[in-house]
Amino acid sequence: MRKKIVAGNWKMNNTINEGLLLVDEILKGLSENQESDVLKIIAPSFIHLNSISNKISGIKNLELAAQDCHQAELGAYTGEVSAKMLVSTGCKYVIIGHSERRQYFLESNELLAKKVDTAMANGLIPIFCIGENLSQRNINQHFDVIKEQLQKSLFHLSANDFSKLIVAYEPVWAIGTGNTASSEQVQEIHSFIRLEVEKKYGVEISSRFSILYGGSCNAQNAKELFACADVDGGLIGGASLKAVDFIKIINSFL
Ligand code: PGA
Repeated sequence: MRKKIVAGNWKMNNTINEGLLLVDEILKGLSENQESDVLKIIAPSFIHLNSISNKISGIKNLELAAQDCHQAELGAYTGEVSAKMLVSTGCKYVIIGHSERRQYFLESNELLAKKVDTAMANGLIPIFCIGENLSQRNINQHFDVIKEQLQKSLFHLSANDFSKLIVAYEPVWAIGTGNTASSEQVQEIHSFIRLEVEKKYGVEISSRFSILYGGSCNAQNAKELFACADVDGGLIGGASLKAVDFIKIINSFL
């Protein structure tokens, strides 16, 4: 059985008070629902990790992620945050390769491979984002783009390491735009990803790792998206900033 996962990427939103309030509301919402086996992950800004970690530590199936980490172990990298620091604040997961990092911070597939290695060497589980942009999709390059992202950033990993991580398919044209990919488009890519992983690591691993969908996933469309055979949950941006919506998305599995 693959793990069902809903992760909230808060991006550069929320002051500390707003973040703590949002966590309170999420906790309240979760406590009102029947016990679910969905793994919930929240990814606030770096500077909020410690306070939020203190609030959620020990709560079953609720974990903390960072939105990025540096590829070096430590050193003179002003303004950066290391994987080891993240672990020390209570993070278990880290988002790596988000399209906003690729686009605005020019993070390449090769750099992201290093980030994955450093994160995993420190015991963090990457939520690794891949996906094509609109012009790539328009000229039918999406399969090639995704294959290259997998090959250059993840396929150097041992089977054991690969089996621990989470992949998120996030078509860039769907992120923050309200243009969700259709469930047919999502299923097509997710099964393609699983097949590529099967070719590389075998069916045992390909059938067991989780692939999340991200890109304007919300309380209205989550049920249909999560019902796709190869969709194991979502990486949610905008809709994770409202507790009611985030909870509804989590409950879309039930
Ligand atoms: P969105 O963002 O849900 O706001 O489209 C998704 C993401 O960037 O992870």
